[in-house]
Amino acid sequence: MRLVRSRRDLAQALTKLDGPQGIGLVPTMGFFHAGHVSLMERAVKDGASVLSVFVNPLQFGEGEDYERYPRDPDRDLRIAEEAGIDLVYMPPAADVFPPDFSTSVTVADLSALYCGHFRPGHFEGVTTVLARLFGLIKPQRAYFGQKDYQQSAIVRRMVTDLALAIDIEVLPTIREDSGLAMSSRNVYLTEAQRQAAPFFHQALSDTERDMLAGERDGAKLLAKLERRLKKIPGFKPQYWALADAKNLQPKATAVEGDVLLAAGHFGATRLIDNCVLGESAKSGPGAIKRP
Ligand code: PAF
Repeated sequence: MRLVRSRRDLAQALTKLDGPQGIGLVPTMGFFHAGHVSLMERAVKDGASVLSVFVNPLQFGEGEDYERYPRDPDRDLRIAEEAGIDLVYMPPAADVFPPDFSTSVTVADLSALYCGHFRPGHFEGVTTVLARLFGLIKPQRAYFGQKDYQQSAIVRRMVTDLALAIDIEVLPTIREDSGLAMSSRNVYLTEAQRQAAPFFHQALSDTERDMLAGERDGAKLLAKLERRLKKIPGFKPQYWALADAKNLQPKATAVEGDVLLAAGHFGATRLIDNCVLGESAKSGPGAIKRP
């Protein structure tokens, strides 16, 4: 595995990497968990693999956790090596965004919904850094986790709109045995919050079950979901929605394949999760667990 920290070394290392399948990029902010590893392993399986590790300042709002976002570069490098990654780009902020950087990329509409409503500028930060990384690395494939459902939909829209020849691969959410979606931010949770956090996924799964049992009325499903989320000890739900899986528009009537999206806080820690209706029924009880 080769590690580079500058655009110049990256460009040079890439000339040696390109193979018949092209390059697969796993863009990350580090502090890996099993969800990241599943993306890396898939990228490695598909061909030459590049991993970017960069805590992107543009996607954090005022008062958010940019400074204290968990970081452990040495551990990340060991994990990447074990996963078989070919090349790691782990730059300082000024290498990705030089002082004269003046472009921003916005996917209108989609970026204003749900998480975007509560985190203004967040998705613009995500799409701007990804456009930059795509330009620097020129991957044929890029890998994302389904936990960030809205992010993946926005990235797909950007790639289509800008006619970028990149396949966006979205892999299933990896969950702890309790059902809690893996997230770098789970380290912020206190013991009591950790005990309660699995009920978040449970609330979504129970609402999916209601839908599969025949309840198709979106307002009724969301009222049940709201009640369940509000019962979770110490949890402050922020939004809960039923949306079309592709364009993320709110739905009044649920069909299989639609997605329940939700976010909320345990204290200062914000968690998101989602559930594609009918998906966990296909993959069995408890959905995807840690390998
Ligand atoms: O999902 C993330 O970790 C980030 O939003 C990403 C895609 C690496 C962009 O900084």
